[in-house]
Amino acid sequence: MADATSVLHVSPVIPVVTIADPQHAVPVARALVEGGVRIIELTLRTDSALESLKRIANEVPDILVGAGTILTPAQADDAVSAGAQFLVSPGVTVTLLDHMLQLEVPVLPGVATVGEVLAVLERGLTAMKFFPAGPAGGPDYLAAIGAPIPAVQFCPTGGISLASAPDYLALPNVTCVGGSWLTPRAAVEGEDWAQITRLAQGAAALR
Ligand code: 3PG
Repeated sequence: MADATSVLHVSPVIPVVTIADPQHAVPVARALVEGGVRIIELTLRTDSALESLKRIANEVPDILVGAGTILTPAQADDAVSAGAQFLVSPGVTVTLLDHMLQLEVPVLPGVATVGEVLAVLERGLTAMKFFPAGPAGGPDYLAAIGAPIPAVQFCPTGGISLASAPDYLALPNVTCVGGSWLTPRAAVEGEDWAQITRLAQGAAALR
């Protein structure tokens, strides 16, 4: 399996979530589901990220759990072994993309330039993460890419908020956006699951 088009249709927002304490993993995932968001991209940015991934995959069947911040082939392997149902990378190299495409889960590779979009498209993928969306040019940049390359659907991520998400979602080549605003660090570490549910409700209502 390779293309992540179906992943982009699960929710108008893919929450990009970093969890330091694996005990927080399941409550965070359940709070998102409670708010109507049935997808989570768990970043591999903490030592215990794989343990958190495993817990969500095993204990929260209602959510599609993916691994983000995949930088190396080994991380991709570890994430799939831990139960990742899709993989997200902030960017790609030939080595990383080749490797991820051999795995049995959808792959959402990060791109930021037209050349990168074409290189990933050449491999048969039409769903891509546009990262870092804000600094790389925002909605205007994606609108411009859409004219010559209408076949690609993007999940822009990076610097997006509840307020700016509609500008992206209005574009014909944007299926969903990604963002960390649904799970603020203070809410996760303060175990304020109700706040996460409220933020998820706001995100789910975007479409
Ligand atoms: C990512 O990995 O996709 C970004 O760190 C998320 O960006 P944000 O924190 O600006 O939403």
